[in-house]
Amino acid sequence: MESSDYNLLKAQFEALVSDEPDVLANVSNFIGLLFNALDNINWLGIYVLRDGELVLGPFQGKPACIRIPIGRGVCGTAAATLETQRVANVHEFPGHIPCDDASLSEIVVPLVIDGALVGVLDIDSPTTDRFSASDQDGIELLCRAFCESQSGRNFI
Ligand code: SME
Repeated sequence: MESSDYNLLKAQFEALVSDEPDVLANVSNFIGLLFNALDNINWLGIYVLRDGELVLGPFQGKPACIRIPIGRGVCGTAAATLETQRVANVHEFPGHIPCDDASLSEIVVPLVIDGALVGVLDIDSPTTDRFSASDQDGIELLCRAFCESQSGRNFI
């Protein structure tokens, strides 16, 4: 996928959510849009921050682990550091939590709404080094658009 397509995806996402105030519906459409638009991925979803841990939210892919402590695995590290984790080979990431044996690379982006962490977006690929630096830029652009669109609302 060309990195320039992320701008088109952003516009498609904003059209999908512009008239809808329900956060769960908008998260679900965000996940469905991205899962179908990105090539060569096997899992895409949200972990939501609940009572100090990450809990599985809307996703596409195989059933996954439900609870992830902050600081554990790729997701928990993104949540603890508030920084995107772009992992070329998950088997080389200390503490990686395997959910689908097919996953070889992964990117996790923290979701911050109105200054507070609400969860993370997690994307897995069956190919090593699937996510380039420009993919990271594009996925972060989409996450910012998502977070800005849900500002002022109670998260799921
Ligand atoms: N691999 C993740 C766990 C979630 S699954 O990939 C869906 C991690 O290490 O946090």
